[in-house]
Amino acid sequence: MHPALLRHDTTCLRRCAPYKNLNTGDNGAMAEHNQLIDAINIRTAVRAYDGEPIDDDAARQLDMTLQPVNLLGNVNLQLVLNQPKVFEEANASGHLTGAANYIAIVAPKDDEQAKERAGFYAERAVLTATLRGLGTLWVAGSWDKAEAAKHCRIAKDEALLLAVVIGYPKNRLAYQSMTYDELCERQRTHRASKTYEQFTATMDDTTRAQAPDWFKAGVEAAMKAPSAMNRQPITFSYNPDDDTAAAHIDTSAGDEHYALNDLGIAKLHFQIGAGQGQWAWGDGGLFIHK
Ligand SMILES: Cc1cc2nc3c(=O)[nH]c(=O)nc-3n(C[C@H](O)[C@H](O)[C@H](O)COP(=O)(O)O)c2cc1C
Repeated sequence: MHPALLRHDTTCLRRCAPYKNLNTGDNGAMAEHNQLIDAINIRTAVRAYDGEPIDDDAARQLDMTLQPVNLLGNVNLQLVLNQPKVFEEANASGHLTGAANYIAIVAPKDDEQAKERAGFYAERAVLTATLRGLGTLWVAGSWDKAEAAKHCRIAKDEALLLAVVIGYPKNRLAYQSMTYDELCERQRTHRASKTYEQFTATMDDTTRAQAPDWFKAGVEAAMKAPSAMNRQPITFSYNPDDDTAAAHIDTSAGDEHYALNDLGIAKLHFQIGAGQGQWAWGDGGLFIHK
């Protein structure tokens, strides 16, 4: 962990940014970048890890994050450390490097809404991990699910849905020495994204222009969200009559297997980008800005 964090309060995520340059502005002032929106602005999928174990303090913090998340979301996310066998094939093929730890996404089975909640709440853990300098990667295919299940507690009415690989990025020091602005630029340019107009495809130009800033900020945060195969299958719309937003699954995106999970992830990003407000679950669910 970076020395600037050694004094951190373990109950307070606000002080947990691991990057020197996330904590200090150019003029040395405390221009801190340790909020969830900052994590959204710098997160990218990480496929190469340095293979070092996650330090005890970071692991404890993550575990502490998962407990309330599990209660709130009625999911059963579990941090599993040091199980490289789960990623043996992906590591051997070169698709991943040094992957060994994961957050197992266990949730009630035969429950479509649980997939959305799992996306929403596991992405919350992803953003916390990002603020601690950890890299993450959602995996649906690049793991041995049966092997992963051996290391989890899965009740009869639950299933292991997906996982998030977690660990220190390869070349950790170079990564941690990047400034916040450099990390934002890397996020902005590292992959193709659908445009704002595509994310709001069901809106006409007039309504789009009239939409409030919180809606635009929400969509922009959702554009930075991970999605299976980067299909970005969610669109958003704003309704000026009642000042609400809605999130929809775009079935033409070809993401039928993971669309509900991606819906949950996109809703979390939108909510953080929009500031205050809350979603109703489901395809077409409404966001009420407070
Ligand atoms: C539900 C889900 C499953 C994913 N499965 C895999 C996977 O098996 N292997 C992989 O390399 N990436 C996987 N990804 C990562 C996506 O490819 C990645 O998030 C997407 O390309 C966008 O890039 P970004 O995360 O860097 O923004 C998955 C992402 C999600 C949300």
